[in-house]
Amino acid sequence: MASTKFSLLLPLLLSSILLMNHLVNCDEDEEDNLLQGINKYRASFNLKALTKNDNAKCLADELSEQFKKQPCTNTTGANTIPGTEPQFANYPNLLAKCHLNVSNTRDGVVMPACIPSLVPSLVLTNFTQSRYSDNLNDTKFTGVGIGSEDNWIVVVLTTNTPDGSFVPTTNTPDSSTLPYSAADMVSKISLIYLSLLFLIGSLFLL
Ligand SMILES: *[C@@H]1O[C@H](CO)[C@@H](O)[C@H](O)[C@H]1NC(C)=O
Ligand SMILES: *[C@@H]1O[C@H](CO)[C@@H](O)[C@H](O)[C@H]1NC(C)=O
Ligand SMILES: *[C@@H]1O[C@H](CO)[C@@H](O)[C@H](O)[C@H]1NC(C)=O
Ligand SMILES: *[C@@H]1O[C@H](CO)[C@@H](O)[C@H](O)[C@H]1NC(C)=O
Repeated sequence: MASTKFSLLLPLLLSSILLMNHLVNCDEDEEDNLLQGINKYRASFNLKALTKNDNAKCLADELSEQFKKQPCTNTTGANTIPGTEPQFANYPNLLAKCHLNVSNTRDGVVMPACIPSLVPSLVLTNFTQSRYSDNLNDTKFTGVGIGSEDNWIVVVLTTNTPDGSFVPTTNTPDSSTLPYSAADMVSKISLIYLSLLFLIGSLFLL
């Protein structure tokens, strides 16, 4: 009896966890699409695919949070006139939050773009058909982190040299280096917990 209940519960539980994961992660589809597009673009120049860098991803997330407050205009994002990018006064704090400092980020590049509703085809061309394309086909870049908020998407490229590795020399792992923030984790866990409760509740009704 107990085992039939369990064999019924397990597939339901697994599929609900998969569903929850999908719901929680669907914001990230944009970022994955862009990464795939960028890597295809690189492949067309016979360049190696960029690998994901967690600290660059953290910085890209923090920066998109800052850019979010700015409206899209013809002078923001990919259309920014070089040298006039907004400088955030709290940039050193954003770096510190991601366990980074100027010593290991200096050779990287930050490329923000604002595309209303982040339409995938426009997102990709804003990187591959703008002044950013020179960075995307540059052999010196090997890693990438992508963050997005509202209409903004930020790509951070890293190198494999110490000055652009985005890897702190003395690394003390702590929770904020995880790819998900603590808040995301809590909401994910509570969703799974709720769906588990719901499933157990519905088993009692059978
Ligand atoms: C931005 O748009 C405004 C009006 O829509 C125009 O006057 C200006 O020249 C544009 N700037 C650039 C850099 O395209
Ligand atoms: C970049 O995105 C803007 C929307 O913000 C769009 O109007 C423009 O055509 C895009 N540029 C390219 C080169 O894709
Ligand atoms: C990058 O692209 C430009 C033109 O799009 C091309 O001239 C250059 O050779 C490319 N660089 C590499 C490393 O493929
Ligand atoms: C950056 O952090 C490293 C340790 O990861 C440290 O050795 C270096 O002095 C720091 N540089 C600056 C400019 O703070």
